[in-house]
Amino acid sequence: MADKKLTTEEILALARSQGAFGSGGGDAAPEPEADAPPVEETPLAAESAEAPAQSAAKPSSTADILAAARTQAGGDDTEKATPAAKPGSTADILAAARAEGTSGGAAPKKPAAAKPASTADILAAARAGKAGGGGAAAAKPQAVKASPRKAASATPAGERPSVAEMIKAAREGGPAGADAPPAKPKLPTRPPLPVKKKGEASTRRSFFADTIVFVTEPFMAAWLAMGAIAAIWGLATARFMMPNMIVEPPTKFKIGPESDYPPGTVSTKWKAERGIWVVNTDQYDGKGMIYALASVCTHLGCTPNWLEGEQKFKCPCHGSGFYITGINFEGPAPRPLERVGLKLADDGSLEVDKSVKFQEELGQWQDPASFVEMA
Ligand code: FES
Repeated sequence: MADKKLTTEEILALARSQGAFGSGGGDAAPEPEADAPPVEETPLAAESAEAPAQSAAKPSSTADILAAARTQAGGDDTEKATPAAKPGSTADILAAARAEGTSGGAAPKKPAAAKPASTADILAAARAGKAGGGGAAAAKPQAVKASPRKAASATPAGERPSVAEMIKAAREGGPAGADAPPAKPKLPTRPPLPVKKKGEASTRRSFFADTIVFVTEPFMAAWLAMGAIAAIWGLATARFMMPNMIVEPPTKFKIGPESDYPPGTVSTKWKAERGIWVVNTDQYDGKGMIYALASVCTHLGCTPNWLEGEQKFKCPCHGSGFYITGINFEGPAPRPLERVGLKLADDGSLEVDKSVKFQEELGQWQDPASFVEMA
């Protein structure tokens, strides 16, 4: 029964059952007092004030109840009641009566300044007093009157906050409750590069460190790689523009004075280096002369050897043989060896010109440029 809400009729019945104006009419009804506090202009109050006899005769009527309530609210000493202690209105009288009925007579006198807010508050207070016992009737109606939003926002400890609360807490930047999501971990930040102050001398270590940092920067590394590739392509193109060539010694060169080549001899001094033999003989046309023979076999281009004992040039490839004059006489060689240009230079040295060739079968050995005649 403690949780059951009382209806207005129940409250009125409970008030009637109070001993002050018992329902059976055994006790004398309270006399209407001349000094009783004025009641607000309600028809019910006016009726009660003008007809006390009727209320005594009908104690169970509403007027009786109101009169009894005024008596209760005004206190026993009604003659000394002050206007501040007067019940304010019919609602107040009803509240006092209800409080009297629900608390079983243990409720304290209502202070004049504490007016109930509305009938709903009075009913709520009366119901609460009924449910909680006689001492609970003194609870303030304002405590019962709570906004639904406020009650909803009062989150018990340990419960998960609502979505609206979480959104509100996120907007305000604070946690919505005990179950608020954990803050995101803070990402590590890159340490700032050391800035060299003006006038500060850079050390070798700082120079290398700065260079490494500069080179290892992704953007700079990409630019360096592109530059290296472009340089390689440029060098390759330049090399392609230059043709392959063999660097040979000059075709004109001096071989020394005539005295270095005595008559009747074949010098092999320049064979390996310049590819010529220097011959001083008079066996060709019967007059002494110096000429230079190319050391190339006229068969297939091998290099013959001078055989001093046999006084002939012998090719090791196919056995061709040539006299000291250069005339072929054995083997597959089809023609004599070739002479190269030779002249006496201004300084008295013999100068060879390999860019010029003289062939005997063509009669070119008669050319004075192909020999130096001895005196
Ligand atoms: Fe000299 Fe054949 S190349 S004989």
